[in-house]
Amino acid sequence: MAAVWRGKWALVTGASAGIGREIATQLAADGSNLVLVARRADRLVQLAGELTQRYKVRCEICVADLTRPEAPQEILRFTQEKELPIEVLINNAGFGIHGEFLRADPHRLLEMVQVNVASVMYLARLFLPAMAQRRSGYMMVVASTAAFQAVPYLSTYAATKAFDLLFAGGIAAELAEQGVRICALCPGSTDTEFQEVAGQTKRMARSKESAEKVARVGLQALAAGKPMVISGLKNRLAMESQRLAPRSWVTRAVARMFKP
Ligand SMILES: NC(=O)c1ccc[n+]([C@@H]2O[C@H](COP(=O)([O-])OP(=O)(O)OC[C@H]3O[C@@H](n4cnc5c(N)ncnc54)[C@H](OP(=O)(O)O)[C@@H]3O)[C@@H](O)[C@H]2O)c1
Repeated sequence: MAAVWRGKWALVTGASAGIGREIATQLAADGSNLVLVARRADRLVQLAGELTQRYKVRCEICVADLTRPEAPQEILRFTQEKELPIEVLINNAGFGIHGEFLRADPHRLLEMVQVNVASVMYLARLFLPAMAQRRSGYMMVVASTAAFQAVPYLSTYAATKAFDLLFAGGIAAELAEQGVRICALCPGSTDTEFQEVAGQTKRMARSKESAEKVARVGLQALAAGKPMVISGLKNRLAMESQRLAPRSWVTRAVARMFKP
């Protein structure tokens, strides 16, 4: 896989933790230069230091809060001013909110839609034209197995991930002829800061995969030109088998798993 990423500029959102941090690390190990995006500057500075020292790649830090609608435009401007041709866009930043919909902070719900949906679409719209023009490029959208069915008590989050999955699938087909490869990575429960941020209890996150493995599965699928990949055999089997069951049955079963 190393040859695919070597010497390319990759932009990773949500590079300060979890899956994004792992994707950035694996891309650097394969010789990719990086633009690291997140809010926590201290973490990005530390990661950039580690990656430049260990892998001799170039790293730029772009501190951005993707709840701000103008953030994607500012990120594009940052790369343009530094003349960094982004050939790989990793649309990874995102978060969940666990609990009863009627008790959730509406402002926080809107922020989640902005980060998980609007900023994903906007970054794609801003960065993909140059890739299409060069007839070469890659974008990963980190969706989720939550995208395949309604998830009571994570209802809005699951709906944002359904958007990510369908959006990535649609533009993957649109842009295939223009040499741009787009892949939706669908992880199941993964060992990151996600559960803590979402306010989930340990009970709901059994048999977690490592972020390292999820990142590897996603990058391999992206390099291979697959429009979608589900990480983990158990997750793949679960998603396949539930397609045969009635939706209402699946929703009730998921509700039992996620009820606070
Ligand atoms: N972990 C799981 O079980 C799981 C399963 C399926 C899908 N996913 C998806 O995987 C992706 C990565 O999540 P993770 O599991 O790695 O969680 P994580 O460890 O909490 O990392 C989330 C990343 O997103 C960034 N982020 C969050 N809000 C942001 C904002 N407003 N502006 C900019 N960056 C922001 C965070 O950086 P800062 O806080 O520094 O800004 C952090 O780098 C998400 O899209 C998530 O939905 C996770």
